[in-house]
Amino acid sequence: MIATEDAHGPHTYQKFPIAIVRGKGALVWDDKGREYIDSMGGYGVAIVGHSNPAVVAAIRRQAEKLIICHGSLYNDARAEFLDTLARYSPRGLDAAFLSNSGAEAVEVALKLARKVTGRKGLVAMQGAYHGKTAGALSATWSKKYKEPFEPLLEGVRHVALGDLAAVEREVDDDVGAVIVEPIQGEGGIMLPPDGFFKGVREICDKKGVLLIADEIQTGLGRTGKLWAMENWGVVPDVMTLAKGLAGGVPIGATVTTAEILNSLKKGEQTSTFGGNPLACAAGTATLNHIVKNDLPGKAKAKGRVYLDRLKKMGAEHFLTREARGMGLMLAYEMRVDMPDVLNDSIRRGVIFTYSGRTIIRMLPPLVITDAQIATAVRLLGDAVGAEEAKRSHASGGGALGRD
Ligand SMILES: Cc1ncc(COP(=O)(O)O)c(C=O)c1O
Repeated sequence: MIATEDAHGPHTYQKFPIAIVRGKGALVWDDKGREYIDSMGGYGVAIVGHSNPAVVAAIRRQAEKLIICHGSLYNDARAEFLDTLARYSPRGLDAAFLSNSGAEAVEVALKLARKVTGRKGLVAMQGAYHGKTAGALSATWSKKYKEPFEPLLEGVRHVALGDLAAVEREVDDDVGAVIVEPIQGEGGIMLPPDGFFKGVREICDKKGVLLIADEIQTGLGRTGKLWAMENWGVVPDVMTLAKGLAGGVPIGATVTTAEILNSLKKGEQTSTFGGNPLACAAGTATLNHIVKNDLPGKAKAKGRVYLDRLKKMGAEHFLTREARGMGLMLAYEMRVDMPDVLNDSIRRGVIFTYSGRTIIRMLPPLVITDAQIATAVRLLGDAVGAEEAKRSHASGGGALGRD
């Protein structure tokens, strides 16, 4: 399986040498039947758990009825999903363009900003990640992702997260939008200082530009609120969603007001698969499941348990720099590069993802149990301990490995 993927697939993913063939809740199994706690959560997609029964039933029902209906025809599953999304979205944001991925949702947001304001410029944050299609990539911070493909969109300026004076300065007459992630995920689980988003909202209002909240990783309850911007009491003009919105079926959504959405005229934005009935049926089941089971509340409570355990474990290890995060969007930052610890954790039975070289990132399903959290942190602690022992041994018992 691994050799076949390597032979015929791209080599652009950081691959881990296991083949996952089955999942249930916060657990996945490999082709040899070995069980893992999935604290990577399909990169934050498996919000309602792997193969959530409500989502599986909705997909099965819809697949037997109708799988494709192009946006040029009306469809019951799409209408129901748009209605459900509008009902749960922040106040006033009751319209959406449906697409197929996070990057596509961001592309549509950037187009809306240009159409509504007539301005091409964009202010984004240092450390931001918004995807890898050309427009989204322009808003992304990392040079490593961008440089081989430049020139990208012109007029994008990045300011330091939290620097309101820089936002005020950079939003000039050429800028049509400010784009933010409520919490930077790829950037290393970076939270803004209190008052930052309120300040950005005020600047956007004063200068007549759109505030775009990229909730692709933070949305759907992960941070303890259905939408992470609620943690700071701010409603954006445009919200981008994807990842777990359809329980694992590919989807993207650019959620906004009807007025802003209708700045796009016939033909200016379409997508063959956008609003696909299968994805929409899965999306309705997912949203209802999240709200009816109070998954945001559960993420808040379990996030506290997870972070407490990470902090306690971290305090026992000199390779720990910090544990931080909000809800079930967490980071364990090390004083040294983390790949060996990450790989060792997987060998021990828990899967995490990462941000940069030193940060192990947790984006587990919101249905993860307290017992699974305890096991995940214990296994991570064992891997950190093994790394410390290796480094102490190599230094003859000294403190090698501290930076
Ligand atoms: C905040 C944010 N925006 C955009 C994206 C891009 O989404 P996709 O990979 O579905 O294109 C991601 C993906 O990780 C993300 O975390």
